[in-house]
Order: sequence, then C-alpha cells, then structure tokens
Amino acid sequence: MPLAPYLSRYWDAPESWTLETYLANDGYTGLRNALSTGPDEVISTVLNAGLRGRGGAGFPTGRKWGFIPQAPGSGSPGSPDTPGDPRASDPADRPKYLVVNADESEPGTCKDMPLMLATPHVLIEGMVIAAYAIRASHAFIYLRGEVVPVLRRLQTAVAEAYEAGFLGRDILGSGFDLDIVVHAGAGAYICGEETALLDSLEGRRGQPRLRPPFPAVAGLYACPTVVNNVESIASVPSILQHGPEWFRSMGSAKSPGFTLYSLSGHVTRPGQYEAPLGITLRELLEHAGGIREGHTLKFWTPGGSSTPILTDAQLDMPLDYEGCAAEGSMLGTKALQIFDDTTCVVRAVLRWTEFYAHESCGKCTPCREGTFWLVQIMRRLEDGTATADDLDRVLDISDNIVGKSFCALGDAAGAPIMSSIALFRDEYLAHIPGGCPFDHRRSTVFAPAEEVAR
Ligand SMILES: Cc1cc2nc3c(=O)[nH]c(=O)nc-3n(C[C@H](O)[C@H](O)[C@H](O)COP(=O)(O)O)c2cc1C
Ligand code: SF4
Repeated sequence: MPLAPYLSRYWDAPESWTLETYLANDGYTGLRNALSTGPDEVISTVLNAGLRGRGGAGFPTGRKWGFIPQAPGSGSPGSPDTPGDPRASDPADRPKYLVVNADESEPGTCKDMPLMLATPHVLIEGMVIAAYAIRASHAFIYLRGEVVPVLRRLQTAVAEAYEAGFLGRDILGSGFDLDIVVHAGAGAYICGEETALLDSLEGRRGQPRLRPPFPAVAGLYACPTVVNNVESIASVPSILQHGPEWFRSMGSAKSPGFTLYSLSGHVTRPGQYEAPLGITLRELLEHAGGIREGHTLKFWTPGGSSTPILTDAQLDMPLDYEGCAAEGSMLGTKALQIFDDTTCVVRAVLRWTEFYAHESCGKCTPCREGTFWLVQIMRRLEDGTATADDLDRVLDISDNIVGKSFCALGDAAGAPIMSSIALFRDEYLAHIPGGCPFDHRRSTVFAPAEEVAR
C-alpha cells in the first residue's frame, strides 16, 4: 500500500510553518468552505467523513461535536437563562469551549509535536472550523510545557492568524468570532487524560474527574466542551476542502482516511509515515528500510506503551481500529515501537512500568498502590532475585488494576505486563535465578548512554 502524505505533504518545504507557505499550499480553503455553510452542515460533513479521534480511543469526531447542547437562547421551558451566562441552568445557554489536547506524553508517541512544529496553521485552521461547528468563541491548546520550540511556533502562528483575519472578530467577514489561547502545561502524563487536562487548565491539580457529567455537558468552567487530539483537529481542514467521499476513499469503511504512523526503535529509517488506515507493519517496514541490519523483529507496540505488545505473527494485521482489536491489542496513538532480537522484553516492560508508577496521579487505590508494587516485583524479575511465584503475583496485581481503576492510566499500566507474560513467559522464567540473559551492550534502546556513545 502506498503512503498518503496529506498532513505531512510539505513538512520538508522551506519554512513550512509560516502562514505564507500554508497559504501557498491551499491553506484556509477548508475554512472558507466551512464558513459558507452552517455549523450543523460542518458537523454533518465531519460525521459523514467518518473521522475518528486520533488521541487513542478512536471516538468519531463528528459525533463528539454533535453532543454539544445547542439551540442557544432557548433555555429550559420557562427558564430565566441568559444566553452566554456560564451559570445558566440549561447547558445549551452556557458558553461552549474547544480544547485541543496537545499533551502527548505517552512513551513512543511522537506525532503531534512534529505536526505542530512543521505546520501549526493546519491545527489553527481546524480549530476555527471546529469552534464554528460547535458555536464556541474561545478555544485552547493545552500543550506539554517542556516543548518550548513548539510553544513558540504555536504562539507565532496564532499571532499571524490574528493579523491575517483568520482569528479574532468577524473572521473572513462571516460574523464569527474566535480567540485562541496557547496554554503550556507543567509536564504530567495524566494531564493528557481529558478531564485531568480540564482541571489543570482551570488552575487545579490535574486529576481525572468523575463522569458523568461528561465534558460535552460540563467541561471547562462547567460549560459544554469538546476535547480533541491535535491530529484529529488537523485532519478537519482537508475534509472540508475535498469532501467526505474523498476522505472515505482511503482506509476502510469503519476506519476511513489517512493517519500518521510513528516508527521508532530498531528500524532502519525511523520517523513519521502517513498512510491510509489499514496499512500493515510489514508494508510500513518496507517504506522504512526494514528492521536494522542483521536483526529480526522480536516485539512491537501498535499504538504506544499502553497498547498490548505484538510479535511478527501480526506483521500483516491491518493497522486500523478493528484490525488491532481482533488481535487483542489497540491502535492507540499509532506509535509503532519496534524492538529487535537484542531486546530483553522484561527490561523493556520494567521501564514502562516505572513510567506508569511515576505518572500515577494517586487518586485511586488500585493504580496508586498497584503500580508501586508492580515496579518492585518487575525489578526483582529483571535482576534475577524473583521467585516463580512473582510471575503470578504481577499478573494478579495487574488484574486488580486493569478495569478497576478510575481512569485508563491503570489499564495502560497492566497492558505491557500481561501481554508480555502471555507471549514471553519462558524469557521471564529464564531470568530466575541469575538475572537477565541478554547482552544489553548490543541493544541501542536500553544500553546506558555511555555505552551507546562507545
Ligand atoms: C493517561 C492518559 C493520557 C492521555 N494523553 C493524551 C494525550 O496526550 N493526547 C491526546 O490527544 N489524548 C490523550 N488521552 C486521551 C484523552 O483522554 C482523550 O480521549 C482525547 O484527547 C480525545 O481526543 P480525540 O477524540 O480527538 O481522540 C489520554 C488518556 C489517558 C487516560
Ligand atoms: S488510574 Fe491512576 S492515574 Fe488514573 S485516577 Fe487512578 S491513580 Fe490517578
């Protein structure tokens, strides 16, 4: 299957991030089309295109927008609500907000940052279209704060868009107003979870909220809010430009369109590969020059460290939502982390487990306590001081976290452990006693920095 570079088609152009380059590449054409129709038509167009959220769960974007209560001014029968009052009893009368989730902190996930660095205007254009559709006049980009170059680029692009009349009052003479705020978070994986993100944006400690109410009814400042991933919103302008049938001409009926696949690890040419949904890892590896020379594929993640690992048995699995689910995994963020035969699976899983324990927000007991104990036992398993009972123990603890925690971080913590033991139990057992049988100096992924330098 050939690649389909739409979002990434001119990432290599000189100064791809400027408004001038964006306009030279049909930029803001989708917005003009959107403003020439009504907000409801825009929602229908995105719904008909079948765009699914690229933040991990794959929820249909048009449906999410359609959940925002509309009919402003109608209020509840006999209600004294004033349209636009954040305290209005009818959510339809409250202000609406659009929030772009640009936290991107999952290990292996690295598509949104390059997208915003290379073409920030495609995100801004998508935000104006989305805000118009849900009738929001304020939108936010919640960006992971450590990525200062992306922050600066977004701020510059937003300023350019205001200057050119794509943001602010009466956008392109349509009567529609929109302000965008670029907010830098403080760097916590949990702030990518949409309700923790909203708490953080409101100035509180970022911890997931109890649902219901869902953000569509009571999100930012208790007002109806859409939270969408960067790539989801950036995919919207081309749909408005070329139409839903064009988008549906790629991918499958249930997973239409194109998407960014991020290949990292033991691959000859790591990077972003944009392709129709449903391409296989075998095909992507052909584009990426294969596994690094002299080695073979051992295991991989289809969508970041939260998705159960797979092996070469799934090389021909379609990389779409249904294909991954059929093999017991998830498409997630399409972060394909590739590990070759030099990698110790126990060590890789230990690193991920340490990450989840560090990032657990502590709100619920199964995850807060469980991830701590998973790290202790995984360390024993890796250094050879575990007993065979410890394997059952990590599985038991994982089982007590997955599906029993307050948010999906808990499920994510259990996924690599449960899937790796199912696939590589013998390798775990080979560590007991005596420790890791692998020569880590041959691995470029897990060797200490000074060994890589040598
Ligand atoms: C621990 C955790 C971290 C998450 N991090 C991100 C993230 O960095 N970016 C993102 O778009 N979604 C992230 N999500 C998913 C969001 O909660 C939400 O589903 C997503 O932003 C919705 O956007 P979409 O519908 O466009 O996919 C995370 C979820 C969890 C549980
Ligand atoms: S699952 Fe973990 S991260 Fe999520 S609320 Fe519970 S403690 Fe916090």
